[in-house]
Amino acid sequence: MMSCLSAYKTVLALIVVVSLAGFPQPGFAAERQLPPVDATLYATTPTPLQPAECGQCHTGQFQNLKNSGGKHRFSCQECHEVFHAYNPRKNNYDDLMPLCAMCHGQQHGSVQIDCINCHQNPHAPLLVPAMDRLAKACADCHSGPASELKKFPSAHTEQACQSCHHEKHGYIPNCSECHDGHYTGQPIESCMTCHERVHAPLRINFPLNVNVQSCGGCHDKVYSKWQGTQSKHGQVVCTKCHQAHGKIPSCAECHGEPHNKKQMELFPNCLTCHIDVHDLPVKEKK
Ligand code: HEC
Ligand code: HEC
Ligand code: HEC
Ligand code: HEC
Ligand code: HEC
Ligand code: HEC
Ligand code: HEC
Ligand code: HEC
Ligand code: HEC
Ligand code: HEC
Ligand code: HEC
Ligand code: HEC
Repeated sequence: MMSCLSAYKTVLALIVVVSLAGFPQPGFAAERQLPPVDATLYATTPTPLQPAECGQCHTGQFQNLKNSGGKHRFSCQECHEVFHAYNPRKNNYDDLMPLCAMCHGQQHGSVQIDCINCHQNPHAPLLVPAMDRLAKACADCHSGPASELKKFPSAHTEQACQSCHHEKHGYIPNCSECHDGHYTGQPIESCMTCHERVHAPLRINFPLNVNVQSCGGCHDKVYSKWQGTQSKHGQVVCTKCHQAHGKIPSCAECHGEPHNKKQMELFPNCLTCHIDVHDLPVKEKK
């Protein structure tokens, strides 16, 4: 048996040598051993690559999903049902790419349907850069601020939305990017206590807990008089009397009728005697 087999092998080797010598075949690798069959290698079902494995090669896409993927952080293949199938001859790149419509409807109505123009990176879906395409559509999605700016005309109405909301979608500017306060060192957080609505900045609210140094920025005479007064009105905050900008209170709101009727008929204007509401003359000085 054994000798028969080895003889067979020798013959086989001879044939190989002769055929190689006699009939040179380009590309035939003489030294290549034919691989042994090993079916056990295939006695399994491959597990689909996990995102981290795709990410070993596609580091950019993986990092985007990791850091800014939001709710898109599921398996790559949920979107990429077909991949690694690009063929320049077929020019099929676009056909391979997933469509938003596979999973989403018309999220923002029937006008904003060119999803990828705004959501430029599907691996970071909420990062919408500030750009012309977006700027043309602000009012379509935010009718509130747009109509408020229109309804209450101010210098802000003249500003384009993105002159304040610049850099990226959703950016909220600080008043101090464009304005100084009414006095030096005024904290920026205070602005909106009075200018309650930035899209209607001339609608001004006068709450009681405001720092009235702001008033002094424009009404310096009244402010310094009031600050230095001996009268009890110096303890009454400006906005307690002036409940809205420009509103003048009547003395009766707080004092009712302090004097007898006869005197009041003779001198209807309280300030005939009390002279200056911001600096009432008082009996005891110091
Ligand atoms: C929510 C769906 C979605 C998920 C999840 C997703 N992709 Fe994509 N991916 C897309 C879309 C859509 C495009 C086409 C983008 C375009 O046309 O600009 C794309 C494009 C690509 C491209 C082509 C190059 C590029 O960036 O445009 C690669 C590579 C890619 N994705 C890899 C991955 C990998 C790797 C993962 C998982 C780690 C992944 N994707 C997860 C939707 C997805
Ligand atoms: C061993 C590296 C490697 C791994 C792992 C890998 N890719 Fe790729 N992929 C490539 C290369 C190389 C290309 C072609 C060059 C390019 O577009 O970056 C490519 C292209 C792509 C493309 C665009 C072109 C096309 O034919 O689809 C997509 C989408 C893609 N890969 C998705 C994936 C997904 C999803 C996974 C995991 C399931 C994955 N890849 C795993 C190397 C890899
Ligand atoms: C395979 C399905 C699938 C595809 C394809 C897909 N998405 Fe999504 N997307 C989802 C799911 C699921 C959510 C989470 C929905 C939820 O929680 O309401 C989501 C959420 C989002 C979000 C919100 C993300 C967040 O973190 O809140 C945006 C934006 C988004 N998708 C845009 C797109 C765009 C643009 C495309 C096309 C480029 C696209 N999606 C393609 C499945 C998909
Ligand atoms: C004109 C630009 C634009 C277009 C076009 C657009 N989107 Fe959006 N989309 C946005 C912006 C901006 C957001 C808000 C992102 C944020 O929260 O910062 C958003 C949010 C989303 C969200 C998150 C859900 C939510 O309401 O917070 C999903 C999902 C979404 N878009 C899907 C889509 C799909 C699907 C399409 C195409 C049918 C699409 N978008 C077209 C600009 C656009
Ligand atoms: C396609 C619809 C869409 C377009 C177009 C769009 N937005 Fe948005 N915007 C959204 C969604 C959705 C959100 C997140 C949900 C929310 O807070 O209302 C958002 C959030 C915002 C926020 C943050 C709100 C907050 O409370 O933090 C600002 C600011 C904003 N958008 C301004 C703009 C401006 C300015 C434009 C135009 C340059 C614009 N948006 C265009 C849909 C859109
Ligand atoms: C002068 C600067 C300025 C302009 C112009 C401006 N905004 Fe704003 N916007 C702000 C500031 C500041 C806030 C934050 C207000 C707050 O904290 O209450 C804001 C808040 C928002 C918000 C979130 C809160 C809300 O009111 O819904 C949206 C959405 C918004 N702006 C959209 C717009 C749109 C759309 C336009 C153009 C039509 C616009 N803005 C023009 C400064 C501006
Ligand atoms: C991106 C620049 C910008 C930001 C941010 C901004 N404004 Fe303005 N604002 C302007 C411009 C420009 C004008 C008109 C010229 C001027 O008065 O300086 C203006 C005018 C005003 C006016 C006078 C309006 C009129 O019609 O006379 C008020 C009040 C005002 N801003 C308050 C605010 C407050 C409060 C904030 C923060 C919540 C703010 N602004 C944020 C640019 C801005
Ligand atoms: C105590 C209330 C109050 C506070 C706080 C306040 N403002 Fe004002 N602001 C006003 C009043 C009142 C006006 C005058 C409006 C008019 O002319 O009708 C005004 C006017 C303005 C104007 C118009 C230009 C001018 O100077 O005449 C700007 C800009 C302004 N404020 C910015 C700011 C900023 C920025 C802050 C925060 C640092 C701020 N304001 C805080 C009450 C306030
Ligand atoms: C940015 C400047 C500015 C600020 C800040 C400001 N005012 Fe004024 N105020 C004005 C202007 C301008 C007028 C109208 C012109 C005038 O009559 O002096 C006015 C008018 C008034 C009037 C009506 C005057 C009259 O003759 O009828 C009162 C009252 C008043 N302001 C109180 C206040 C108080 C209180 C504060 C602080 C809580 C304040 N103002 C903050 C600019 C300002
Ligand atoms: C918002 C309320 C309010 C208004 C409006 C008001 N006052 Fe007063 N006034 C006070 C308070 C509070 C005191 C202190 C009372 C106390 O301590 O008993 C006071 C005290 C006085 C005093 C006593 C003098 C002093 O300094 O003790 C006189 C006089 C006076 N007010 C006159 C007036 C006149 C005149 C007007 C109208 C031009 C007026 N007040 C408007 C709240 C007000
Ligand atoms: C006790 C109530 C009261 C307080 C407190 C008060 N005011 Fe007045 N203010 C009035 C009354 C009443 C008038 C009208 C006086 C008149 O008719 O001569 C007035 C008038 C004004 C005027 C217009 C007339 C002028 O003198 O220029 C301004 C501006 C003003 N106040 C600002 C302020 C400021 C700023 C403060 C705080 C620093 C303040 N007021 C505190 C009641 C008050
Ligand atoms: C004819 C001059 C005159 C007129 C007009 C006048 N008062 Fe007086 N008022 C006085 C005198 C004098 C006192 C007492 C002063 C003192 O004791 O220091 C006084 C005191 C007050 C006091 C302090 C009372 C107390 O118990 O301390 C108040 C409050 C007051 N007046 C409010 C008013 C009001 C409000 C008006 C307008 C309706 C008014 N006055 C009109 C002369 C006047």
